[in-house]
Amino acid sequence: MPTDNAAAWDRHSAAYQAGASLPTDVAHYGPDIANENELRLLGDLAGKRVLELGCGGAQCSIAFAKQGAVAIGVDFSSEQLAFARRLCDREGVRVDLHQSDLADLAFVRAESLDLVFSAYAFGYVEDLNRVFRQVHRVLKTNAPLVFSLPHPAYDLIDDDAEEPLLVRRSYFNRAPIDYEWNGIRFTDFHRTMADLYMGLVRAGFAIDVMLEPEPKSGGPRSMFWRETFRYLPRTLIVRARKQGI
Ligand SMILES: C[S@@+](CC[C@H](N)C(=O)[O-])C[C@H]1O[C@@H](n2cnc3c(N)ncnc32)[C@H](O)[C@@H]1O
Repeated sequence: MPTDNAAAWDRHSAAYQAGASLPTDVAHYGPDIANENELRLLGDLAGKRVLELGCGGAQCSIAFAKQGAVAIGVDFSSEQLAFARRLCDREGVRVDLHQSDLADLAFVRAESLDLVFSAYAFGYVEDLNRVFRQVHRVLKTNAPLVFSLPHPAYDLIDDDAEEPLLVRRSYFNRAPIDYEWNGIRFTDFHRTMADLYMGLVRAGFAIDVMLEPEPKSGGPRSMFWRETFRYLPRTLIVRARKQGI
């Protein structure tokens, strides 16, 4: 029985936000890798309508709004959204925040968005193909879905285990992955690279960027840092564009 990830995020929100201390002037993609200032996947956002899925504290949406975008954030955790509201007030920025499952985008008009973005939320979603279909409905033709998520190869190891680094799970095992973080249980959903590729193609997308960033060579490490980041990609980043019918 998968964990209630929304309840888990409610319990974890304060510790996550205190430890992650994410920037609000540039979009991030994952721990200890380059951000949007270096990767440049999103383009000029001035005047664009942008939806962030699994926005958490809305740091990326705030960065989009600061660049002149009309920013909308969706998350199912009331604690994460409460943090996001306080942060928007503190930064003097307007983000339209919605509490909902990110597979439920009925409140968004079809073909109304210039960009859908998500950082590290899709790993918690069981039916990701449904999300891809919903995102396809709300994007304008040729507009991008840009997302990051735990790299499928990284799911195969236990990064808390002592050396040597071992493959502890079959790449082909799609059973949910239950894990504990600060004593709170979460459930992740593993899919292969081909699952992701085929899900996007079947939903009507074409992938034009796929990145497996190496960790930054130096500087302070995040609270998520593990030596294993040097051996396997921690994060997968995809940009996929909605195809015309
Ligand atoms: C790792 S956090 C990332 C949050 C934010 N994108 C960031 O980078 O800090 C994952 C977020 O996704 C949200 N989330 C996970 N599954 C979700 C779902 N099915 N529907 C809505 N939000 C979801 C969680 O509540 C949490 O805020």
